[in-house]
This record gives sequence, structure tokens and C-alpha cells, in this order.
Amino acid sequence: MKPTLPMDPTGWFQVAWSHEVGIGEVHRMRYFGRDLVAWRATSGAVTVMDAYCEHLGAHLGYGGTVVEDRIRCPFHGWEWNAKGRNVCIPYEDQPNLGRRINTMPVVERNEAIYVWHDVDRRPPTFDVPDVFTAFDDGAGPGDYFSLCEHARLHEPGLELHPQYVMENGVDFAHFTYVHQVPIVPEFTRQDFDGPVAHVDFTITFDQGDAGASIDDVRSGVNAINCGLGLAVTKSWGMIDNRTASAVTPVDDATCDVRFSVWIGRRPGDERDHSESADRHARGVIEQFEADIAIWSHQKYASPAALSRGEYPGFTALRAWAQQFYPTTAGTPAPADPANTARSTA
Ligand code: FES
Ligand SMILES: [Fe+2]
Repeated sequence: MKPTLPMDPTGWFQVAWSHEVGIGEVHRMRYFGRDLVAWRATSGAVTVMDAYCEHLGAHLGYGGTVVEDRIRCPFHGWEWNAKGRNVCIPYEDQPNLGRRINTMPVVERNEAIYVWHDVDRRPPTFDVPDVFTAFDDGAGPGDYFSLCEHARLHEPGLELHPQYVMENGVDFAHFTYVHQVPIVPEFTRQDFDGPVAHVDFTITFDQGDAGASIDDVRSGVNAINCGLGLAVTKSWGMIDNRTASAVTPVDDATCDVRFSVWIGRRPGDERDHSESADRHARGVIEQFEADIAIWSHQKYASPAALSRGEYPGFTALRAWAQQFYPTTAGTPAPADPANTARSTA
């Protein structure tokens, strides 16, 4: 069902994985109702810009070529730099200094390419979290298997909204039904720091082992939501992985969903790849797919019929989300998030 929430939230949104845009390649894509190209200069830097040449409107993704740090239009050879400036008209002495192709701020992190979207073209007000360092526990990429194809999920063109994924993080009741796990997580943290929302919970597996201490079986998930487009998680305890889930509006009806999983590597394991890690990643992805099956047919409920236990988590999350929508961005946060959620969510 076409989402009823605004599809133009401000924030960082994944538009590709890094390997999809090799050096010298031009990659076509469509996000936020705009045709775009991503291209990688010889230096390795990625530029994301509107797809159409400002000269006579050729689509740079059909025959455009990268020349060092510029993209050359296939139609008349005009060259545009990473700022979208025209720097060469091959048959004139001077470039066109007045025309510029719209570019988007880009960050490449954890093997993914993110763009900053803001309808008013304000510069970024926060950063893309690093799936390893954001949790401040000393872990780095070397502690995890690299992101192979078995550890990525790409579901394009789904009728859902980025906020659904964020709300899933506080939805304790769905685990039993969607994920078929006999646990109810215990939320240990939900707090907000501007555009960042931290949601942590612990889960206790029933080992059926009378000798096991509670610490042996306690595990947990720490999630960092940065804006509505991106959440990174760390699973610890019996499960050891990191994930990044990214939902990017394509137009006012659909989004692309991307999910990346990094499986923990035991100390001393030097292998690039492991079949058991692939299986583990597949299992994590299947759980995410179970969520997607609900989200992609959901009709956003507002106000929702929240139970007493659900009320605080959902209303706080929905109030936090308001800051990313252009119509309400910049308005001061109300003293009582629950009231806001009732009246506007
Ligand atoms: S349309 Fe691009 S150079 Fe003419
Ligand atoms: Fe879920």
C-alpha cells in the first residue's frame, strides 16, 4: 500500500553498494523522484548528480564517460566536475561558468554509498554512522567477515516507508509472530540525541540447561538509528553480528531496501570467507525478509491502536521522527512527546 507518510524526509540514504560503482563507471539510478547518476573518478571519489546534462539534456548515464575527475557528456562532449560545474566545452575557449548540474553530498562508508537528501538543499546536519566504530567497543572490520554477496539483500521498489523500519526497533510484540522466536526482548535503552535514536534490548534464550547461568545465555541488540534512512545494529552475546539497514525513497510510492550483514569472526580466524558465516548471514537476512513481508503490504496506522506496553516506545519514536519531515523540521520538540504523537503521528 502506498505509504501515507511524507516520502521526502531529510537525511542520509543508501543509493548503492561501493562495488556497484567501479573506477571510471557511471551508474544510473532514480531516487526522490529524480533521475541520478553516480560516477567514480580515477581518484576513487564518487559523485552523485542529476542525470541530465545542462547543455541540451542528454542523460549522462547512457554513454557518459569518466575522464579523470570529470564526467563527459556523450552528446557534445561537455565535461562536468564533481561539483557539477561545467569545466570544458570542447569546441569553445571557455566553459559555461553559469550552469551547474545539481549534486548531492556523498559519503562512502562500510562498503556503501550514501547521499544526503534535503528538499531545501540544506547541508548535512549529522554524519553517517560507522557500523563498527559507532558502538565504541574497539571492534573494527577485521573482527568480522567481509560483506560478500550472501550477506547483502537488495529489495527494490517496495511500497513501504523508512519509518516502518525504525518503528520495528521498538516493536517488542512482533518477535514471536514475525520472527518465530519464543522470546520477548527486554528494552534497556531508548534515548534520543537529536537526529540519533539509540534503542537497545536484551534477549534471554531458554537453553534448557539447568547449569547455564543467565549470563551464558543473555544476548542483546544495540541499534543506532541515524535519521530515518539508516540503522546500524550490533548483536552481542550468543549472536555476533553487525547490520546496516537502509531504506531509500524512489518516488512518493516506493522505496528500495538494502540490508548488509557482517558476521563476527573468531579471534585467530584468518579466512576470508566461511560457509558457516554465510549460513548465519542468510539466517539474519531471512529474519529481515520476514519483516519486509509485513512492511511492504502495511497500511500505516495513525493514530495506531497501541497497547499500554507499546505506547511509550512507539510514541517517543514517532515524535522523534517528526524532525526529519520538511513540514515540521525545525519546530522545537514538544515537552511531552506522547501528546505530539497522539496529535500528529
Ligand atoms: S547535451 Fe550534454 S554536451 Fe550537449
Ligand atoms: Fe523485526
